[in-house]
Amino acid sequence: MVKVQNIAVVTSGGDAPGMNAAIRAVVRSCVYHNINAYGIIDGFNGLIKDEMIPMGYDDVSNILQRGGTILGTARCKEFHEPGSRKIAYENLKKRNIDGLVLIGGDGTFEGASVFSTEYDISVIGIPGTIDNDINGTEYSIGFDTAMNTIIRAVDNIRDTASSHHRIFLVEVMGNNSGVLALNTAVSSGAEEVFMPEKKEDLVEIKEKIERALSANKSSIIIVAEGDKVGGAKEVFNYLQDAGLAEKLRVSILGHIQRGGSPTYLDRLYATLFGEQAVVSLIQGKSNLMIGVQNGNLISCDLAVSQQPYQIKNMHYLKLIRKLSVY
Ligand code: F6P
Repeated sequence: MVKVQNIAVVTSGGDAPGMNAAIRAVVRSCVYHNINAYGIIDGFNGLIKDEMIPMGYDDVSNILQRGGTILGTARCKEFHEPGSRKIAYENLKKRNIDGLVLIGGDGTFEGASVFSTEYDISVIGIPGTIDNDINGTEYSIGFDTAMNTIIRAVDNIRDTASSHHRIFLVEVMGNNSGVLALNTAVSSGAEEVFMPEKKEDLVEIKEKIERALSANKSSIIIVAEGDKVGGAKEVFNYLQDAGLAEKLRVSILGHIQRGGSPTYLDRLYATLFGEQAVVSLIQGKSNLMIGVQNGNLISCDLAVSQQPYQIKNMHYLKLIRKLSVY
């Protein structure tokens, strides 16, 4: 068993509620196991720019309930370059850091996977993205909080939509994935959903809206930002050209979906993942992602997270239509 001596934790990519809870679990687990913990500032940028801070028990007090990430995050293109990874390695070695816990999405794991094969740094990934679209795990931290934020927003929109008998196109995040959109549509009682994983029949949607309007009914249509039409504004443009603009409104929820205090579920998984990441490093493991399968905590090769994500629950589409038949 190769016991790591110094572990650094980094948050990378889009922030997600629960990241702080995961940082806390990593740092406190390190303290428990007598391992030095470091926090890397602003994602992989901190590795390259040599911005790493020692972290102790008190540094992670009172952060579990906070959204965002106290370490900062970034989408770091430089880390894809071998020269930058070499600098990152040298900066880690200066402090004898031999274990890295990465909290982020599949983009984060892509760079990390290469890094762990190039250099003698053990790497464990924790899935953290509101999109919940990482292959190999049923859950990524931030998803539940984002879903609850979205549902509350859609409920509010529903109030005004039904008062005015209007049709609302509500755009949710998900540039490559309809997970947020599909789950929102089911759980908010939406009448339709647009998402990257399916081709939309705009004529059919137009007719559905016309039927709703002639029955004086409101409708909520959830649109993933990465849907095939091009987002809620593009869908609006089409329906406007079809003469439906008067009763139509667009609401783009935007980054409100990424903030806020994490829910119970995100705190729980963040804490379980964080502790398990440190235990895995202590056990001499590397190049793994911690995740959930069939409700159980698992670990899988980081390469699994690089396989294309197949959306689950496409059958929800039938349910959405079944429950909004007009
Ligand atoms: O973190 C994932 C995500 O929220 C996507 O759903 C969204 O498309 C993207 O990040 C937005 O990223 P940024 O904040 O960098 O514009």
